Amino acid sequence: MRLVFVGPPGAGKGTQAKVICERWKIPQISTGDMLRAAKAQGRLSAELVEKMALGGLVPDQVVVGLIADRTQADDAKNGFLLDGFPRTVPQADALDEMLAARGSKLDLVIALEVPRALLFERAVLRRTDIRTGQIYHLKYKPPPPDAELEHRADDREEVVRNRVETYEGMTSELLPHYEKKGLLARVDGVGDVDEVTRRVLSSIEGRSGREAGATGATEPAERS
Ligand code: AP5
Repeated sequence: MRLVFVGPPGAGKGTQAKVICERWKIPQISTGDMLRAAKAQGRLSAELVEKMALGGLVPDQVVVGLIADRTQADDAKNGFLLDGFPRTVPQADALDEMLAARGSKLDLVIALEVPRALLFERAVLRRTDIRTGQIYHLKYKPPPPDAELEHRADDREEVVRNRVETYEGMTSELLPHYEKKGLLARVDGVGDVDEVTRRVLSSIEGRSGREAGATGATEPAERS
């Protein structure tokens, strides 16, 4: 199964991706996590660090290069979940080309939909445990007392506002692009985490069931 998660900042892409990837035994490939790791290791230029801190997008060729390498790793041979990539139509085209060159293609693009008002609360109160990568929320999923918490630099309210606006500009082209290709599933991201997981799984299983055709197989073990 080759999946893409699209959604505004704080929609729950990372939270849902962790559950889905565990169930389907595929890697979660997050361009945001890869860029933050590059920053932490001092491998990201000052210009890109600033762009991220202000809530803008980094250039297409940077993230396309990251994805081209990462999707060729052994653990991604049987599928992957791209979290936060592609974000622009040129990124989507580059992804199609790289997969086609490997005789492969995307199976499904899930757009997690959450209204603006909820996004701010979700993003601003998010904290991540830097030792485990676990995502917490000060109100909805309080961290344990021994967690080593990080508050992301781009989770300040004014930056979240810029990120939401960037997202809204970008999706006006990206979502119709995937809709035309028949790959888009819109999933309501409002509700508790388990409820949203059930909706996401039902989209994935619906798609994998259709692809399995006559066998009607829908279980993760059938993934390709
Ligand atoms: P990235 O890291 O991809 O950030 P994002 O897309 O803005 O998404 P977030 O990580 O903020 O949110 P999420 O949807 O994963 O939510 P989460 O599950 O954590 O990108 C960061 C930056 O990198 C970009 O701004 C850009 O500069 C750059 N970049 C990355 N990819 C790029 C690309 N392809 N092209 C160009 N630039 C790129 O949940 C949020 C909070 O809500 C958590 O606290 C969680 O516990 C809570 N929560 C989740 N679900 C629920 C629920 N159902 N109910 C209650 N609380 C919930």
